[in-house]
Amino acid sequence: MYAVPTDKLTPGKILAEEVRDINGRLLLAKGNKIGDRHIRIFKIWGVFEVNVEGPAQGGDNPDPELKPEIFEQVRDNAKGLFRHSDLEQPVIKKIFGLAVQFRCKHNLIGMDSEVDNDVPAIDPGDRKNNFIKRLDKKKIVLPEIPSVVFELNEVIANPLSCADHIAQVVNKSPSLTALLLRIVNSSFYGFPSKIDKVSHAVTLIGTREISGLALGISILSVFKNIPEEMIDMYSFLRHSLACGILSRILAAQKNFSMTEQLFVSGLLHDLGRLILYLHFSEESRHILSRSRKNKKLLHKEEKTYLGCDHAQLGQHLMKQWKLPLILENNVLYHHKPSEAQQPIPAAIVHLADILVNSLGIGSSGEELVPSLDMAAWENLELPLSSLDTIIGQATHQFNSLESILQP
Ligand SMILES: [Fe+2]
Ligand SMILES: [Fe+2]
Repeated sequence: MYAVPTDKLTPGKILAEEVRDINGRLLLAKGNKIGDRHIRIFKIWGVFEVNVEGPAQGGDNPDPELKPEIFEQVRDNAKGLFRHSDLEQPVIKKIFGLAVQFRCKHNLIGMDSEVDNDVPAIDPGDRKNNFIKRLDKKKIVLPEIPSVVFELNEVIANPLSCADHIAQVVNKSPSLTALLLRIVNSSFYGFPSKIDKVSHAVTLIGTREISGLALGISILSVFKNIPEEMIDMYSFLRHSLACGILSRILAAQKNFSMTEQLFVSGLLHDLGRLILYLHFSEESRHILSRSRKNKKLLHKEEKTYLGCDHAQLGQHLMKQWKLPLILENNVLYHHKPSEAQQPIPAAIVHLADILVNSLGIGSSGEELVPSLDMAAWENLELPLSSLDTIIGQATHQFNSLESILQP
């Protein structure tokens, strides 16, 4: 079995896995011969790629039109990105193969970043201090999230809330209203006519899903003023949104009822990095530069120099903002999910983050692929073959939602 992008699909191939549209409706069952009509239907319904039977053509080069030297270059670069992973592990091998395919398809060839050699040294006396205590001692005013976000959080948490309650809260904030309408009018939902009322949007999409997305994006937008030379915020948001989408898809795969919580967890998993970039720019610059120069994982460098990493900082912030405990769990343990009180949802965000880093969709500052926690992977009990479909679905959803990130 191998994945073929819908625009490269030719008639006569046998479908190896059923194809469904975005609402879960079956478009073609597995085992059917694909005809011209089916290809047309896949394109109309925005199916990004399908799995067909047989060995992949052209060796492991997914695109016969691609120049072999480009493919080799992408593969060599990807090996560097996976330097903290064991490429002999079947799951890593699979993720690596998917990453190379994706990067070839999306022209993500060069991956070397510029290293700033002229970075200020950190006073060794500062190393390994408890950074969270330092954060508190300095009485740094953490960015406030608008009170409407708290209210929204409460309304979402209340099982008795209806669409009108949510609409009332959202309507208090013009920026949140605009964001919500942009989400519902994006090609992701594909409604034929323009939706211009929040209550209508909430009824159509479902309260939890739309509110979770609005909540996550509003929190991240608090940090929009981080200087560009520190982090490309658009790239950070792409990384976050892709991780949210993948977390939600993985949660659905595991039959998790609260897929929205996983979506918001994925969206906010690297929130702690924004605190670092915003309030500790000198240290951040040093840590970023060190990890790039020495090819070390960024979260490990954070731990070495600050005594804590962005996952702990993110949790600290979420506690202050009184966000649900499950979000704290998922954010705190997204780099070590086996240690979490609730290991499965933490493992979902962990895997989603690794997949997004592998594919190279945006970046939160990390340029390498973090190591996969093998116990967490086994805990998820996902068949290796499901990763093709999961990435295909996530790419499709990401492409149709990405427009909401535009300033
Ligand atoms: Fe992270
Ligand atoms: Fe991340």
